[in-house]
Amino acid sequence: MSESLGDWKRTHNCGELRIENVGEEVCLMGWVGKRRDHGGVIFVDLRDRYGITQVVFRPDLESETHAIAEKIRNEFVLAIKGRVEPRPEGMANPKLPTGAIDIECSDLRLLNEADTPPFAIEPEIDANEELRLRYRYLDLRRPDMQQAVFLRHNAAQETRKYLIGQSFLEIETPFLMKSTPEGARDYLVPSRVQRGNFYALPQSPQTYKQLLMIAGYDRYFQIVRCFRDEDLRGDRQPEFTQIDIEMAFVTEADVMQLAEGLTRHLFAHVIGFDIPSPIPQMTYREAIDRFGTDRPDTRFDLEIVDISKAALASEFRVFRSVIDSGGQVRAINARGCANYSRKQIDDLTAFVAKHGAKGLAWIKVTDQGLESSIVKFFPDQAQQMLRESLDAQIGDLLLFVADQPAVVANALGNLRLELARQQDLMTTGDFSFLWVTQFPLLEFDDVEKRYVACHHPFTSPLEADLNELETAPGDVRARAYDLVLNGNEIAGGSIRIHRRETQERVFRMLGISESESREKFGFLLDAFRYGAPPHGGIAFGYDRLVALMAGKAFIRDVIPFPKTNTAASLMDGAPSAVDLAQLRELGLRLL
Ligand code: AMO
Ligand code: AMP
Repeated sequence: MSESLGDWKRTHNCGELRIENVGEEVCLMGWVGKRRDHGGVIFVDLRDRYGITQVVFRPDLESETHAIAEKIRNEFVLAIKGRVEPRPEGMANPKLPTGAIDIECSDLRLLNEADTPPFAIEPEIDANEELRLRYRYLDLRRPDMQQAVFLRHNAAQETRKYLIGQSFLEIETPFLMKSTPEGARDYLVPSRVQRGNFYALPQSPQTYKQLLMIAGYDRYFQIVRCFRDEDLRGDRQPEFTQIDIEMAFVTEADVMQLAEGLTRHLFAHVIGFDIPSPIPQMTYREAIDRFGTDRPDTRFDLEIVDISKAALASEFRVFRSVIDSGGQVRAINARGCANYSRKQIDDLTAFVAKHGAKGLAWIKVTDQGLESSIVKFFPDQAQQMLRESLDAQIGDLLLFVADQPAVVANALGNLRLELARQQDLMTTGDFSFLWVTQFPLLEFDDVEKRYVACHHPFTSPLEADLNELETAPGDVRARAYDLVLNGNEIAGGSIRIHRRETQERVFRMLGISESESREKFGFLLDAFRYGAPPHGGIAFGYDRLVALMAGKAFIRDVIPFPKTNTAASLMDGAPSAVDLAQLRELGLRLL
């Protein structure tokens, strides 16, 4: 066996050869995908990231070479030399780009052997995800992982192409930095040379990109890793990638236009999808009212309608008492669902209960009129109001939740998604974009008993609301915007505060004392004294964007080496214990 390449050089990759190449002497290298022994004649599918080429070993080969061919198994690494031959009549494989030819092997080098892999390297496998993550380097040999990697690469290149074309500069910012308040917990890195002090890994480069604006680099971008120690789910990883953007001398419209241009470019050039123009916009208030969430999936209707007036015209005690105590009654018309069984409705009731609702009232619209145990509480006039506001047609099922506004929004917002799942309305390959604007600046945190920033503390309030900052903080709207795709927040940003006084006022509202703000953000407040231009920006969740383009449900399907929901890397075993000596050097002791 020869393990080394010697003077052998690859002439082609395994996806390249066609009928036009017949007669050429070639040298290919790759992995054994499949090996079939037809009584002396051995066929091997040789695979690399470009494709698969069939190699034929005949018994009349030099005996040593044929002996090696007999030994080879799946995932062995081979180098072969041979002549490109047309496949015999009827043996061509039209499904394979190289399917018209095979290589008549004349010489072979076995570069490496392989253990039997824990799962087959094939398009469809039923290996569980844990195994795939543990042997990620094998999983990455599979076509759908390759496609994700290629797509991710293409999206990165197209991002650069587009933004550079718009005069943006790609500028790096530190990973070892001072903690920023993005809302999640920081990953901390202890300093050896300054014992007892810590760096934080960036939750985002937010403060640095603002400093770059002050430094005069008015169009910045970076495809950058961000680190957040938060509870993980399918669309959240402890380290993830952003396309981070900041611009000076701009308003919301400028940033949104740029982000929209980038999104349009990416969808057109990476997956060939033309985004209808322009992307619709909706305020946060309207999104919550109509969809119960600030990131509505607009691929389908099933809108939420306020029927509090009809409820007040009824004698239904449950509804009236909720309204009397400051609540509301809202409903969704589940079109064509009047045939839902008792069990199906009970399941929906249990579903909304999980999302905080105390009940789910329902009315079926039949050719006999409205049907439900609660219809008797609705006089004709109230029934008419219901029909009108919900555009009720025969065959519809009306579903109601009465509660405080936040509970209603959460319950019906989720019910809307559940109904869409049941009716198969979430079409993959359909992309529905939406801008959500004018988020609240602050929200009251019931646990901490203080206001916290909805986005981050550098977000500018709407000028018109600035006067209410101290008197009605919860009502102040922010110059913030999110880009939503099929119910996913794929980008978020804002126009920033660029004046020191306003920044200090917002810090005060957040309960950040003067000394604390000096200690944490003194560098930024200081920089504001030296000519900070008006500026704003946005960051795309790159993993989410790529996952949606690739039609994947989870972002870990488009991340080469992702972590699990417990922030572990099953392949290398991170996080892991370290030597006591290492801790001692850092001046740390475990509790
Ligand atoms: P924000 O916190 O909204 O804004 O993040 C921007 C986008 O990043 C994605 N994202 C994540 N993706 C995967 N895993 C996570 N844990 C995760 N967290 C967020 C989302 C989100 O829309 N500095 C600001 C941006 C700005 O104001 O310019 C920021 O980071 O898709
Ligand atoms: P009850 O009078 O409590 O038996 O409730 C009658 C119907 O109203 C049942 O279908 C309950 O699920 C529903 N219901 C009870 N509370 C609420 C609520 N807060 N919102 C919507 N429906 C409710």
